[in-house]
Amino acid sequence: MKALVYKDVGEIELIEKPLPVLHSENDAIVKVEISSICTSDLHIVRGFVPRAQKGVVLGHEFVGTIMSVGSGVKNLKPGDRVSANCETFCGECWFCRHGFVNNCEKGGWELGCRIDGCHAEYVRVPYADMGLTKLPEDVSFENALFVGDILSSGWWGAELCEIKPEDVVVIIGAGPVGLCSMMSAKVQGASKIVALDVDDTRLEVARKQNLADYFVNPKKEDLYQIIMNLTQGRGADSVIEAAGADDTFELAYKIARPNAIVAVVAMYEKNQILPLPEMYGKNLIFKTGGVDASKCSELVNLIFENKLNTDFLITHRYKLEDIIKAYEFFETKSNGCLKIAVTN
Ligand SMILES: NC(=O)c1ccc[n+]([C@@H]2O[C@H](COP(=O)([O-])OP(=O)(O)OC[C@H]3O[C@@H](n4cnc5c(N)ncnc54)[C@H](O)[C@@H]3O)[C@@H](O)[C@H]2O)c1
Ligand SMILES: [Zn+2]
Ligand SMILES: [Zn+2]
Repeated sequence: MKALVYKDVGEIELIEKPLPVLHSENDAIVKVEISSICTSDLHIVRGFVPRAQKGVVLGHEFVGTIMSVGSGVKNLKPGDRVSANCETFCGECWFCRHGFVNNCEKGGWELGCRIDGCHAEYVRVPYADMGLTKLPEDVSFENALFVGDILSSGWWGAELCEIKPEDVVVIIGAGPVGLCSMMSAKVQGASKIVALDVDDTRLEVARKQNLADYFVNPKKEDLYQIIMNLTQGRGADSVIEAAGADDTFELAYKIARPNAIVAVVAMYEKNQILPLPEMYGKNLIFKTGGVDASKCSELVNLIFENKLNTDFLITHRYKLEDIIKAYEFFETKSNGCLKIAVTN
């Protein structure tokens, strides 16, 4: 089969590889129907993910059809249509039992990082009962493509904010993850959502999809004044940092009101500075890290009920044989590119 391999920093190659086989009784082999490229894949290729293994097949965002399952897999059978979780987790260890599946003692971000991922024709998924979610008939592969990664990340980012009905939630970055955070914050009951981006075309997407109440380009407008006006001078009740740019961590804690929650979903390529003396008395709560993508069934249900819809994120399509071109194009984020659907 064809598979895209991370060879070394800055080096990827589409190679022929043997089909994956079951390694354990909990595994499933899945035919990849559609996959997508995540900004985190680009972080691997640029060499900023120390845990990534050289030689691994990239990709962790996909939907597919079950081809075979091990004897321990209880809830899935060949032919089932599934969305995949970007994380591998056992469901039994202390972290899994507490919902912290990203920190599973036997998993975490494995697919496309430490074990072969989905930028291939087929992929082996460990702990298949945990990591794969069956799709109802009325939810198409495209409808569910982002469930296990960016939609989970947006949902998790909003959950970290513990949104209360009167809250003004500011979301930094209207990229795919920021847009998913906006729709999640809305479903979770935010009173007002403020979308920030330095790219007007992305703000326009958020506006067109009705994902926020205010759309601000901090390069062009007085962001602090706008947020202070919206919050009677308090600052944002919570902030989701989904941009990951050099200055956006600082922006996140500066626009937050005292005692706010700042949820950092973005993955930085550089260390960030937390100036504790300067923010003494602001009593902020920071939450950060890799998504705990443990709500996939709920997200599929919300898609089924038309409460969440991520279809508009697919702006470009490529064939697996052209995936290197797709990576190059995704890196430029030009031509209104939000997400790419890669089909076999
Ligand atoms: N925590 C997780 O588990 C997890 C999961 C998926 C993705 N991510 C990370 O989330 C981040 C966002 O992903 P994405 O795919 O949406 O990325 P993206 O690069 O497409 O979007 C980031 C957006 O931030 C905007 N931006 C840049 N500088 C800004 C500024 N100063 N003010 C406001 N906006 C600004 C950009 O214009 C862009 O639209 C990435 O760092 C990605 O690696 C994390
Ligand atoms: Zn990802
Ligand atoms: Zn576990």
